[in-house]
Amino acid sequence: MTPIHAPFPATRLRRVRQNAGIRGLVRENYLSAADFIWPIFVRSGEGIVEDIPSMPGVARRSVDKIVDAAIEAHDLGIGAICLFPYTGIEERTEDCAGAWDPDNHVNRAIRAIKAAVPDMVIMTDVALDTYNINGHDGFVVDGEIINDTTVTALVKMALEQARAGADIIGPSDMMDGRIGAIRAALEAEGHQNVMILSYAAKYASAFYGPFRDAVGASGALTGDKKTYQMDPANSDEALRLAARDLSEGADMVMVKPGLPYLDICRRVKDAFGAPTFAYQVSGEYSMIKAASTAGMIDEERVMMESLMAFKRAGCDGILTYFAPAAARLLKAQP
Ligand code: PBG
Repeated sequence: MTPIHAPFPATRLRRVRQNAGIRGLVRENYLSAADFIWPIFVRSGEGIVEDIPSMPGVARRSVDKIVDAAIEAHDLGIGAICLFPYTGIEERTEDCAGAWDPDNHVNRAIRAIKAAVPDMVIMTDVALDTYNINGHDGFVVDGEIINDTTVTALVKMALEQARAGADIIGPSDMMDGRIGAIRAALEAEGHQNVMILSYAAKYASAFYGPFRDAVGASGALTGDKKTYQMDPANSDEALRLAARDLSEGADMVMVKPGLPYLDICRRVKDAFGAPTFAYQVSGEYSMIKAASTAGMIDEERVMMESLMAFKRAGCDGILTYFAPAAARLLKAQP
């Protein structure tokens, strides 16, 4: 093999690491608050900011407090916020009608945020799990997740979010055909500018455990999601999914979870060059929190290192529960 540089001692790769100034000069990737999408949880009531035991430092907020969070996100320069509903078991039904209720927690939150901070970018979640009595992302008939009737419901759900003022629709359900169906419905109703960030490569992952607690689904879920979410053993399939979703009209694609799937982020970015996002999911967040609480790691440094890993792997942005903490840190020491 021909060396690409002169041999030692002419080449000393440590030279460009010798001080902070030089390291800054040769740095390849940067993090900015504008790269972050902050997932937040909306619940019923007023004046409520409620801790989530499985996710230390993350809260469920009533709509009025969500507005405060959106103002904070805007002040910190965070790129977008992503709304997830918390629905208690008593609010869940088999027909999932809450999902397309124009006055559900999420749709009320969208309107309230748009009234208070109109230029804050709002992303939503499209899937039935947060309204479903059995915790699945689609309708369940005789133990099976029914694809096409689920897609019809997802379209209704997405349309209500667009009507409320959502900027980015985030289908996280993994049903086939949903991106094309949602895109067509948005176009037909004049929402040409509403974007779709498709959860294209979403794995059936144990890292979602704390989230299911956060949205009230952990007790509800019967069985697993392996007939619609991806097998963690697969990689080529992620490319087929991203290609499919982009061809159906997705503007951006996501890989989820994040750190255990950095190889997928890089492949998707290299293959399509489309705006690519990773979701640093609840389990990834809570592991870092737990290890730092136990005194095993330095939380701030591990947080920033884990976020930088996504940029290095080719991601344009990151959905992360660390968004406000990381944005504050970047503001203090850019
Ligand atoms: C469900 C959904 C999940 C997450 C986002 N949307 C969980 C699941 O698929 O069961 C997980 C997010 C996280 O773990 O932080 N539509």
